[in-house]
Amino acid sequence: MLVLGIESSCDETGAALVRDGRYLLSNVVASQIEIHNRYGGVVPEVASRQQLAAIIPVIETAMEQASCSWSDIDAVAATYGPGLAGSLLVGLTVGKTLSLARSLPFLGVNHLEAHIYANWLRNGDAPAVQSETDGDWSYRKGDPIFPLICLVISGAHSELVLVRNHGEYELLGRTRDDAAGEAFDKVARILGLAYPGGPAIQNAAQKIEEELQQQNKSLNVARAAYRLPRAWLRSTYDFSFSGLKTAMLHLAEGATEDPRATGEGRQISQYTRMGAQATQKGPANVALLASSFQEAIVDVLAVKTRLAAQEYHVKQVVLAGGVAANASLRARLEQELLPLRIRLSYPPIDFCTDNAAMIASAAFFHLYRGEQHGLDLDVSPGLSLPFKK
Ligand code: KG4
Ligand code: ZN
Repeated sequence: MLVLGIESSCDETGAALVRDGRYLLSNVVASQIEIHNRYGGVVPEVASRQQLAAIIPVIETAMEQASCSWSDIDAVAATYGPGLAGSLLVGLTVGKTLSLARSLPFLGVNHLEAHIYANWLRNGDAPAVQSETDGDWSYRKGDPIFPLICLVISGAHSELVLVRNHGEYELLGRTRDDAAGEAFDKVARILGLAYPGGPAIQNAAQKIEEELQQQNKSLNVARAAYRLPRAWLRSTYDFSFSGLKTAMLHLAEGATEDPRATGEGRQISQYTRMGAQATQKGPANVALLASSFQEAIVDVLAVKTRLAAQEYHVKQVVLAGGVAANASLRARLEQELLPLRIRLSYPPIDFCTDNAAMIASAAFFHLYRGEQHGLDLDVSPGLSLPFKK
């Protein structure tokens, strides 16, 4: 089954062609990062206008790259939530219109579920080997093995989920305040680093860690200058990152509040000023703060995920969402899980952040179960994973 997937939930416009939920024929992403970088975050109105400009060329390019015509495609799928309403509307409307015009089945996809299914996509553009394509729709050699624990960590979500089978999700824990990606983005702003914050913090941290190593200096001693809190919230699998964010704010000392700003506006203007001050103290200081922050957030994510994997006796842990691209998190979790013989897997970096291949993948597993949506499906900006009670 060949599915055309469309993604437009935030500031990335994507189209992809994926066979049987696993094998990639093409995957095209148009990013707006450079536009939003100017504002230090996504501006929703700008994002939806950019979606509109990019969507048709992106779909055309995906079809060209896959050398496929409409008669090769079996179904159309598009994200319907969660995300920014205006952005979602663009991809969903185009997807429904194409399905109507070409008389193809249509499926609306949950963006969070799609992040999980990025783990079913085969690496890069290597063609599928025969033994891989054998087997039924639900399991092929190389697929993740149920039951599994999935850590879903994106710009707006941080959830620890037990996945018993296709479509069977149990919520073990979630963030009580900021999402992991949101914490990376806000702290990057405090430190005067670029948007999106995750890659910027990772790069700054990596640089200072390599430098210290070359100078034979202890990273732990250097980081000890900054004592950052970890919210363990023991006996729950919940997370909280706002205390860590506030501690970073205090570390980038010298805050004077702007009396004209209120609420979130005041916080943001504080972040921007902090950014300028932290940068004035020199890049090494910023990098060491970035490294300490990354270590604190990775510590909590890795330990809680390992504890859940042990309690539920799973053989596999998978990572999903933009923060799953973080090299330090991957390495640390590997360390936690290896002695327990629990396998860790994560998508290649391009499939961790928003893309349409994961949309086509998730759609396949619903379409194969006979599900599809009517053309009256509307966007659902606040959609969550379909948890069982
Ligand atoms: O999944 P995603 O692309 O979009 C949402 O659905 O939210 O996630 C975006 C988030 C951003 O907060 C970004 O800073 C974070 O993922 N991110 C990272 C890394 N790459 C992207 N966080 C930490 N380390 C990274 N390497
Ligand atoms: Zn996403």
